[in-house]
This record gives sequence, structure tokens and C-alpha cells, in this order.
Amino acid sequence: MAENNEKNKVTMDKIVSLCRRRGFIFQSSEIYGGLNGAYDYGPMGVRLKNNLRDLWWKEMTQLHDNIVGLDASILMHAKVWEASGHVSNFTDPMVDCKQCKSRFRADQIDLNAPCPVCGTRGSFTTPRNFNLMFQTHIGANADAASTIYLRPETAQGIYVDFKNVVSSSRVKIPFGIAQVGKSFRNEITTKNFIFRSCEFEQMEMQFFCKPGTEDEWFPYWREQRFNFYTDKVGIRKEALRWHQHGPDELAFYAKDAYDIQFYFPMGWQELEGIHSRTDYDLTQHQKFSGKEMTYLDPETNQKYIPYVVETSAGLTRNVLMALSDAYEEEVLKGEDGKEDVRTVLHFHPNVAPVMVAVLPLVKKDGLAEYASDLEHSLREEFVTDFDTSGAIGRRYRRQDEIGTPYCITVDYDTLKDNTVTLRFRDSMEQMRIPVSEIESTIKKATKEYKRV
Ligand code: GAP
Repeated sequence: MAENNEKNKVTMDKIVSLCRRRGFIFQSSEIYGGLNGAYDYGPMGVRLKNNLRDLWWKEMTQLHDNIVGLDASILMHAKVWEASGHVSNFTDPMVDCKQCKSRFRADQIDLNAPCPVCGTRGSFTTPRNFNLMFQTHIGANADAASTIYLRPETAQGIYVDFKNVVSSSRVKIPFGIAQVGKSFRNEITTKNFIFRSCEFEQMEMQFFCKPGTEDEWFPYWREQRFNFYTDKVGIRKEALRWHQHGPDELAFYAKDAYDIQFYFPMGWQELEGIHSRTDYDLTQHQKFSGKEMTYLDPETNQKYIPYVVETSAGLTRNVLMALSDAYEEEVLKGEDGKEDVRTVLHFHPNVAPVMVAVLPLVKKDGLAEYASDLEHSLREEFVTDFDTSGAIGRRYRRQDEIGTPYCITVDYDTLKDNTVTLRFRDSMEQMRIPVSEIESTIKKATKEYKRV
């Protein structure tokens, strides 16, 4: 964790401010006063989110054996959520302040204390359960029969399609189905920016295995998922830790569950859950749909309902992790002894929204044209940026703030000998290289990238 002095500490306010300033994340419907719990991903944010998503997708479906993809619909039959237990159990205990009508999660406030909003004492209603699923209606009639829900997790789409995937592809147990998509929860406590929002994205994988083998797959997936964050996303090891669910946190059907926690600006919080879920969900869907959810082992002719190990990560929560881990206000000392603060996002090049910025030293004398042509030639391989406005030092700082790992500067010598300056974001070191070596040098540096 970036343990800077108090003044340069990473805070949520600083991250929110940078996100807005540099086009990562905006409050939804801002011009109308904003909508709580909903966010828009701007030009930089959508790239960061897509990079995290693509890295996960590649990791799960391309680099692992026997994992196939799925993109199930957000709207599903209402019975899905009865079977899964969400209709009856997916609730938070809520209280309202009778004075100011503010609503709170009963498990997050002291009911004997004054209302945090209006300060009235003894004003809370008795706690009652509030279902987190958003309801809507399908078709022309808004009656009970047409009630459906926006999915609160992507996982159920995978369970419901389990038989379709088995019969249409050549997967054999053990195998997994991976899915990325939007989920919706009517969260009451939506503070902490995008950490807990009402509309968010999940990256989930259900791994179907033979009953009795789940205790082998569970530690395997725990290790895989932890290493993904350190090795591929480039998150510092000391900012991640495990939390095993105690008996009061564990779902009644779950055998075991661990969270990977990340050290967010507000402290240690869940990033991803790895759950040993037994055959609960498939059994429930068999019961409610009347359709067999079994698997026939082609070798032994044995029929069984598979057990499931689930890996369930928040994509939008991954975005907040990447931003929090990357953010640093670095104190630099100039030659005159004066201090200067450089705000920099130390993104791993795998997820950085811009990989290479091409900057002409000055606009005139053909430098801008040369740099523009160079930038175009690099677009096939890298996400690039081109910036001609302001002093070169300020342009470097602008790129540091969006986390661009490499800057290329075109100067007068470039016109003579086709060499450029390559500047590295983290160390600010510069090297002179021929234009023809830009691509290979950047690829090598990315492969060897280590956060210092
Ligand atoms: N299928 C299991 C499941 O959904 P979960 O622990 O409720 O488990 C998994 O959610 C992950 O989804 C969490 O670790 C978190 O990263 C993300 N997540 C859950 N609720 C969220 C919310 N309201 N906003 C943003 N991310 C959320």
C-alpha cells in the first residue's frame, strides 16, 4: 500500500476527483442532480474496465482447459429467483428514521444512537427485511403474473443453461462456464463511490465437478484467482489478503467460502468470492423446473448432479481496486530543493487505458506531422494518444495522471536520424531508440513490467 505521508495519502475523495477530471468515471445523470448508486464510465474508464474484463476473459476461457463462455440475458423467468432463494432470502434488514425518512441498513448503524442525518434520537422504525432485487414487468400488463426481476447475479444464468451447454458443446466434467455481465441490486448503502452500486458488472465462473472432488478444485481455484491479481493485473501482494467466511457468514448450503480482500482507501473489503456451493443451485432448479439437471458420465455411465466451485468477482469493483492500487502522489525534489507533487497512476501496462502517447516537442517545423504519422503507425498494435498542447513537462504529467506507461517524444534530432525519446512512467527514465525499435522495446518492457 502506498504509505505516503498524511497529506499525500490515497483517499477516496482524491480518486473520485481524478476520475472526474480525467474522464474515468462520472456520476450518472449528473445534470439532473445525479442518481445514487449508478455511474458512467468515461473515455478512460471504459478502456480500463474493458481491459480488466478482457484480461479476465482470456485468463478463464483461453488459458484454462475446459472453460467455455456464456452471455445469458439479464431478464429471466421469475421462477429462477424463487428456485435460487433470492425471492425469499436476498434481503437486508432496514430501518427508517420517522423524522427525516432516511433509510439505513439496520446492521450498519447503532439503533440507540441519534439518526446520522437529522440527529433525532429514538426515531428509528423496527427493522424489517427489504429485498434487494429490482422488480419490473414484462409485456403490456403490469400485474403480478408479469413481474420479473433484473438479475442480482450472473451465476444463475449459468446454472439455468447448464444442460444446454453440455448437450451443445463437447465439454466433459470437470468443466467451467464463464460469464461477464451487468447485475443489479437495490443497495441502500451506496457510499464509497463505485464500490457498492445498484448497477454493476460481475465476472463469474461456475466450475462443475464430480461430487467428492470439490475439495481438490476449491484450493486450486483459490490459488488461481489470487495469482491472477498479482501476476496479470499487477496488484501489489501486500494490498491483497484472504478472508474465510465464518459460520455466521456462510450460506446454509455452502461448504466453504473465501473472499479475496483488497485494501481500498476505506480499508480491507471484499473484491472476489470463491465459493464451494455443493449441488444446491442445480438441485433447486431441478425441483422448481421439473427438468433433470443431472450429468451422465460417458465413461462410467454414472448419473449425478455436479458440485460447483464458483469464482465471483466484481468487474466494477476491480476498476476501483486498479485505481486505488495505482494512485500515488509522489513527492519529487527539484534541483533547487523545491518540492513538487506528481500525481501518477501506476497501472500495469496490461490494463492501462492508453499504452503509448506520442508527443512532438513543439508543433512547428514538421515535428507535429512526423509525430502524427508515427502515432498512426502504432495504432494497430497499441492504444495511443497524441498531444501537442502545452509544455512537454505538462504533457508528461497529464499522461502520468491517466497512467500511460510509455511516452514517445519526437524532437529535431528525430527528423535527422529517426530516433525518438522513450520515457517510462514509473521511473521517469528516458532512453533514445530508433523508431524501428519502438514496438519491440515496448512489448519487451511490458512483458518484464514490475511495479517499483
Ligand atoms: N454469485 C455469487 C455472488 O454474486 P456476491 O459476494 O454477492 O456473490 C460477488 O458478489 C462479487 O460481486 C463481490 O465480491 C463484489 O466484487 C461484486 N459485487 C457484489 N455486489 C456489488 C455491488 N452492489 N456493487 C459492486 N460490486 C458488487
